[in-house]
Amino acid sequence: MSAPLLTVEDLEVSFPGRTGFTRAVRNASFTLGRERLGIVGESGSGKTTMGRALLGLLPRTAQVTARTMSYDGTNLLTCTERDWQKLRGRRLSMVMQDPKYSLNPVMRVGRQIAETALLHLRTDRGDAKRRTLAMLEAVQIRDPELVYRLYPHQLSGGMGQRIMIAMMLIAEPDLLIADEPTSALDVTVQNEVLRILDDLVRVRGMGLVMISHNLTMVSSFCDRVLIMYAGRIVEECAASELQNAKHPYTQALIAATPSLDVRRTELATVTRDPEWLK
Ligand SMILES: Nc1ncnc2c1ncn2[C@@H]1O[C@H](COP(=O)(O)OP(=O)(O)OP(=O)(O)O)[C@@H](O)[C@H]1O
Ligand SMILES: [Mg+2]
Repeated sequence: MSAPLLTVEDLEVSFPGRTGFTRAVRNASFTLGRERLGIVGESGSGKTTMGRALLGLLPRTAQVTARTMSYDGTNLLTCTERDWQKLRGRRLSMVMQDPKYSLNPVMRVGRQIAETALLHLRTDRGDAKRRTLAMLEAVQIRDPELVYRLYPHQLSGGMGQRIMIAMMLIAEPDLLIADEPTSALDVTVQNEVLRILDDLVRVRGMGLVMISHNLTMVSSFCDRVLIMYAGRIVEECAASELQNAKHPYTQALIAATPSLDVRRTELATVTRDPEWLK
């Protein structure tokens, strides 16, 4: 693995609630190089919260502590909102799980992407528009000129995801956190998006964190995988070794994954053991 872009040691994130704190991320440590790192784990295990913590995008009520959280020599723990704004977009970026909440509802989508290009790349309006149309085409939008003029509510779920991906990629970030970026896409478009991300990692040396529920996709696309359970990273392995994972939760997750080749009469369910929380 190349020198780490991101180093995280003992990251803890808690949210205050009526009955005390929810520890959404507990004691998480990992590094990321210019590679594809997958994060899998069941709903509520803390994947999105960890991604947001890395970009300074958690609500103010969240309590974030860590021994180390650094990106390419910058200590993220002492970043002010201004520092974050400088880092986000151009250097660090995140494709959000739900595009509906991330796009401006009253601005045409093409303009939103072009504004991002104008903000982060030294370019003029004409070039920003050209780049936007090329990026829309790259994420398999069939009629880029038409879609450029649409408002977010006029997009289907899959189109919304592709618009978000185009918006994040146009600024050419060094590190991209993609939260379920392809969950609403059919498999051919999903493969095209993965190919674009893969090119960015291999050609431009981008670091990619891919958060997903799709174990099959993560094991074939990523280099390494972190498995989260109840806020903890319970296991880390090479993606190609996921089948031989040791933690009982990971094994249960694999057993519960449907497969096209193996016909089962009944899919396994995951029975949680309180021991896994220890
Ligand atoms: N803003 C918030 N305020 C309070 N609790 C929160 C907040 N955001 C997340 N949580 C809690 O943190 C825990 C982890 O949530 P998170 O969204 O990170 O899970 P996830 O692994 O991304 O799940 P999913 O696969 O469903 O997207 C959950 O218990 C959730 O309720
Ligand atoms: Mg999530």
